Amino acid sequence: MYQGDRVGVFGLDPPTPLARSGGSLPHMPRTTLETLATPAVVVDLDVLERNIARMAGRAREVGVRLRPHAKTHKCPEIARLQRAAGAWGLSVAKVGEAEVFANAGFDDLFVAYPVVGEDKGRRLLSLADRARLGVGVDSVEGARTLARPFREAGRSLDVLLKVDVGYGRVGVLAERAVDVAGRLANLPGVRLRGVFTHAGHGYLAETRAAVDEIARLEGERLAAAAADLRTAGLPVEEVSVGSTPTAWGAMRVAGVTECRPGNYVFHDASQVALGTCGVEDCALTVVATVVSVPAADRAVVDAGSKTLSSDPLRPRAGGYGQVLGRASRIEKLSEEHGVLAVAEGESFRVGERVRILPNHACVVANLHDCLVGVSGDQVEAILEVAARGRVR
Ligand SMILES: Cc1ncc(COP(=O)(O)O)c(C=O)c1O
Repeated sequence: MYQGDRVGVFGLDPPTPLARSGGSLPHMPRTTLETLATPAVVVDLDVLERNIARMAGRAREVGVRLRPHAKTHKCPEIARLQRAAGAWGLSVAKVGEAEVFANAGFDDLFVAYPVVGEDKGRRLLSLADRARLGVGVDSVEGARTLARPFREAGRSLDVLLKVDVGYGRVGVLAERAVDVAGRLANLPGVRLRGVFTHAGHGYLAETRAAVDEIARLEGERLAAAAADLRTAGLPVEEVSVGSTPTAWGAMRVAGVTECRPGNYVFHDASQVALGTCGVEDCALTVVATVVSVPAADRAVVDAGSKTLSSDPLRPRAGGYGQVLGRASRIEKLSEEHGVLAVAEGESFRVGERVRILPNHACVVANLHDCLVGVSGDQVEAILEVAARGRVR
């Protein structure tokens, strides 16, 4: 939730409640983007709400439960907007994120990550009275570490087996799924709820057609793995897919029950490059000040890697952020400097403010204590990134 001292650093007045579709947000009266201290991460609340509504509508249309990944924003306020629009529960990446969202009143949480460690198992056990929990696993060895505290307490933890549908990161290959799932189903202290996957390789696809093909295969391969498990007599309640570029394609596949996109609330330059959305669908930008113009072809802003992150543009490298409304982009970063390659026919002056569309919104949010909610140029709210840095 909003904290007064965090508003002070932006030079803003105290907030009053602002009604939005998910409840109320702390409202910042009479403040515009021009008065914000920079660099500031700004979220256009109108675009945010439109993105939330669009994905919720798609999931409703195909009868799939939407479980947005909250690692993108790490903000309970934004999660409340997602819930108000029909999200079924939340996905998170870390036990620490689950704790923050459980404390904020979210009672259905899936840790979409192969969590390993008895310490994590004990923390999950202490959450289990407050929330319906699910956790990702991709090995019996890993699941055993979580199972132990639950078994000793006479309880069981829901697990979903991660299946690799082509990303090549974590997850069992489809041919091993029945074997591993069978052993999980016999492991005291856990209960097999289903299967899940994430087609992160969609971010490397060079054309929209290639993204769509990955999305189709994501759904089909996971649905096929679920069918194999059922044939072997194993329980599969949930068949969960999801990334932002592949969400719409994968959720339409028969047999898929749940979708877990995260980035869609904000979008970013990579989603635009992938053809997921247009620039007008990007809710998160960074407002920065030009602090130096040392040469006609170079300008420097006060947002470096500690503000924008050094994540590359996907699917092809192309600098570290696009100046909105201009062709210039950030071509080099150091911690507090973003060096713009000034495009032909453009110029910048010292003191000028620019808005930068970052490559990867999820990592940008995690670098900041709060996001500044705006509508047009009007500052409306300060959103605390409450689960920021919860990497354990
Ligand atoms: C397991 C898992 N599920 C869902 C997502 C959400 O994907 P996206 O950020 O593309 O929406 C991610 C993102 O990293 C993920 O790792």
